[in-house]
Amino acid sequence: MSQRPHRRAKNHATQQPEDFILSDVNGILEQIIKGGWFVAVITCIDDLKKIYQRRVPKMFYDYCETGSWSEQTFHENTSDFNSIYFRQRVAVDMTNRTTQSTLLGEPVSVPMALSPVGLTGMQHADGEIHAARAAEKFGVPFTLSTLSICSIEDVAAATSKPFWFQVYTLKDDDFMERLMARARKAGCSAIVITLDLQVQGQRHKDLKNGLSAPPKLTLSSIADMMTKVSWGLGMLQTKRRTFGNVVGHAKGVTDPGSLSSWTAEAFDHALDWDRVKELMDMWGGKVVLKGIMDPEDARRAADLGADAIVVSNHGGRQLDCALSAIRMLPEIIDAVGERMEVYFDSGIRSGQDALKALAMGADGVMIGRSWVYGLGAMGEAGVTKALEILHKELDTTMALCGHRDINQVDRQILRIPADFQGQWAD
Ligand code: GLV
Repeated sequence: MSQRPHRRAKNHATQQPEDFILSDVNGILEQIIKGGWFVAVITCIDDLKKIYQRRVPKMFYDYCETGSWSEQTFHENTSDFNSIYFRQRVAVDMTNRTTQSTLLGEPVSVPMALSPVGLTGMQHADGEIHAARAAEKFGVPFTLSTLSICSIEDVAAATSKPFWFQVYTLKDDDFMERLMARARKAGCSAIVITLDLQVQGQRHKDLKNGLSAPPKLTLSSIADMMTKVSWGLGMLQTKRRTFGNVVGHAKGVTDPGSLSSWTAEAFDHALDWDRVKELMDMWGGKVVLKGIMDPEDARRAADLGADAIVVSNHGGRQLDCALSAIRMLPEIIDAVGERMEVYFDSGIRSGQDALKALAMGADGVMIGRSWVYGLGAMGEAGVTKALEILHKELDTTMALCGHRDINQVDRQILRIPADFQGQWAD
């Protein structure tokens, strides 16, 4: 594998990283939360996940914590990070560190964005609003999913900075145009077009649980929800319990239905690059193409003039037995890293993971499950906590690798196995 540094040095604002870190006292107070009968000290993303699992109905926990079919790709997205190591450096001045950078030309406190996640308002009442607020305060972009519970207008009304809006590639042009017009009106600064969900990968747990929003009332779902008291109280206090961007907006969709029946009816199975271009032109602003896992597709995206791509296998929820996203990242950076911004998504559960992807040459990382765990655990404070944890881990690890500026970090800080990308027969 080429060891050439790929990260482009960026001009970063003069704001200090400390501006984005909670003061120690607040940090410690916020780390200590009451979790029912016990007090939990939260030190890592996995702690948030444990609280999340206790507080959210199984149907929605499973929706988040699943991959398609055998879940091989879902698991390898995280485990493949373990074979990449850092080079420890010493006696390097570690003062005045910065993680500030830019994404799509906008300043960010750390090159990290919240990935779009459907049904987030079922993980916590008004979940998208909580997450968008946390992201805004932390200084990173939030991406609202088309299949969110809170609508574009709800999130715009609750925030003051532009967020990104994710669209699927749907057949109904009228709906697409109206959706984009709504996003434009709400001031969204970019659209993220998901390219890897023309047809849906089967997630066994969702079928077994009868996933729906609002949840179907069966004996087992009622018994489960009765144990999720704070979740239930939150849900009783909000009116937002179904797909806010779709129900009442898409032709013929007047009731919630299920994610899979919506997918089967509305998604454009005939999607090709011409259609992608049409959608980019329909938007007319900044476009991020998400779901790129092959250098040839990355080149097509660059040829079309996309502003950025996201190397992603949808968190292992679509093509099972695809290589993990982190294995594909170096090849894609080598193919298009000089032509457009390349973001990484799928598998980040720590700041060390984020640093590995950035050091490989990604301009930014996107997190999905890591922020959903925080949201389900503690609402907005939990998303903030997830961001703080990831930021702190990334910053400290960068320092221990002998760097002070995230924009200067490159592959030299990594030990990547020679066969990491694999040798494959033609
Ligand atoms: C939707 O994008 C999903 O992965 O469920």
